[in-house]
Amino acid sequence: MIYGLVVAGGIGQRMGSDIPKQFLKIRHKSIISYTVEVFLDHTDIEKVIVLVPEDWIDFTKDLFMRDFGEMEKLVVTAGGKLRNDTIMNGIKYIKENYVYDDTTTLVTHDAVRPFVTKEIIDRNIEALKEYDSCDTVIPATDTIVESLDHQVISDVPNRANLYQGQTPQSFKMKKFEELYTSLTEDEKNILTDAAKVFVIKGEKVALVEGSTFNIKMTHPSDLDFANSIIGRKNEK
Ligand code: CTP
Repeated sequence: MIYGLVVAGGIGQRMGSDIPKQFLKIRHKSIISYTVEVFLDHTDIEKVIVLVPEDWIDFTKDLFMRDFGEMEKLVVTAGGKLRNDTIMNGIKYIKENYVYDDTTTLVTHDAVRPFVTKEIIDRNIEALKEYDSCDTVIPATDTIVESLDHQVISDVPNRANLYQGQTPQSFKMKKFEELYTSLTEDEKNILTDAAKVFVIKGEKVALVEGSTFNIKMTHPSDLDFANSIIGRKNEK
């Protein structure tokens, strides 16, 4: 069984909008609906579980009813305080409502990356045939400098070995649950990235090729870029 977890439990502080950024529109459609549509269309994904802030559940259900109609494949439930809490809520939902075993796979994706493609999801699913987890990345384009004191550079790592992390991040559900529950509360507060949970526990995380279009809506300027991507798609 492969489940898609679309994580939308954040409030989008950096976007500065009056509603959580996942509900903002690009042209005539909400960011979250673009994202969810890709997962609904993917035939290998059995269920799509969308995790939103508790007080946005009804709003989201209404939105999806308008955009997709009644869909058995689609579920909306509450996210958590931190991003990994949101993932754990998704796992809880699956365990309470569906069948699962050691091979149950989660493809977790930021609701605010609406330009994910079927091909990127395919590559995640393929990687999980060999590994317990994988992360979608693109080679770093800017030189990354490190500063431990935030005043002066402490290191300039070799760019050839650096990647920018995107999502989906995919993994075997039971493995993630086992690793995450073994973390201390302090570790949980620092480790908001799911792939890092595997890395610090010494587990292999395979790299999967992402796309420069698979951007995350973080700041208002990202909306301009998103609008131009949609515009270009419509012209084709
Ligand atoms: N996310 C989540 N649950 C949380 C926090 C974040 O599901 N408790 C989700 C966001 O909704 C988003 C994705 O994780 O789809 C990526 O996170 P980010 O871009 O940091 O979103 P926000 O936390 O909403 O943004 P900000 O940090 O600006 O507040």
